[in-house]
Amino acid sequence: MKNRIAQKILLGTLFSLLPLATIAQDAGSSASWWEANAQEVLVWSVLALEVLLLLVVLTLYIVIRMIANRVLVPEPEVVEISGDKKIVLEPKETFVARVMHQLTDSVPVAQEEEVMTDHEYDGIYELDNNLPPWWKAMFYVTIVFGVVYLLNYHVFDTGDLQGAEYEKEMAAAQAEIEAFLATQENSVDETNVTMIEDDTRLASGQSMYMQKCSPCHGAEGGGGVGPNLTDQYWIHGGDIKDIYKTIKYGIPAKGMIPWESQLSPAQMQDISSYIITLEGTDPPNPKEPEGELYERESSVALAK
Ligand code: HEC
Repeated sequence: MKNRIAQKILLGTLFSLLPLATIAQDAGSSASWWEANAQEVLVWSVLALEVLLLLVVLTLYIVIRMIANRVLVPEPEVVEISGDKKIVLEPKETFVARVMHQLTDSVPVAQEEEVMTDHEYDGIYELDNNLPPWWKAMFYVTIVFGVVYLLNYHVFDTGDLQGAEYEKEMAAAQAEIEAFLATQENSVDETNVTMIEDDTRLASGQSMYMQKCSPCHGAEGGGGVGPNLTDQYWIHGGDIKDIYKTIKYGIPAKGMIPWESQLSPAQMQDISSYIITLEGTDPPNPKEPEGELYERESSVALAK
């Protein structure tokens, strides 16, 4: 009987919450709705909070009553028929009690003496109940988990340990950075160009140099029609930005073609970088140095 009342109260409160849900749907995602209806929202929020509080109190009440009524451990009922004739009605185990009993496997209060040990502390005796099945099940699960974990991470190495996981994530992030930079490559110009040190890009710079520049600058950069690109002397500046600019706009008056229309910014960056790697090499029949001495800050190129 009491349970039914509790059920009704519970359902009633849930249904009374429904209008809130419809309001939330109407709201959509527009922030202005919330501003316009701030007062109403506040009222409903307070109401919802109150309902929630009511639910909590109700639940607590039911739980306390259940414990107080010993729903979990029902006592047998003694019915007197006549005189000294009595029958003992074993209470029907409720569903909750049955489940609890299966989970805890504890001895009913009435039979507690059977499992009482002689360990006594200030009149409190220790019971020798079975270990609760739920606890034992969890214990076995941890053992199985431990074995699987050990095999996975330390025996067959099928899983990644922290270090490897970290490395993988870093590699993935690096790949993302590179993919992003690749989309940025062609935004290079003479104001922001930097020396490329990536071998594949330098190699592509070299092959483009062989195709387009070697006729005038020599296969190994020693010079010909155009100046020697392996020495430290530059007519138009030896900084990567200067070299890039010379290649891009050319020196048409002196026979150096502008390459802007034929090469992409990234390609011109690759060739500029490749030319810097030529510095300090020893080509056959080098042309005399021309222009001014340019001393490179980093000795990367010279070291090669
Ligand atoms: C038709 C011949 C010719 C071709 C092809 C040519 N250049 Fe030149 N380049 C020249 C000449 C001539 C100069 C010298 C300009 C001057 O004296 O001001 C020069 C100058 C340069 C300079 C400046 C050198 C300095 O001392 O400042 C660079 C760098 C250069 N060329 C790179 C290239 C690259 C890279 C290519 C290929 C993409 C290329 N050139 C193709 C003829 C050429």
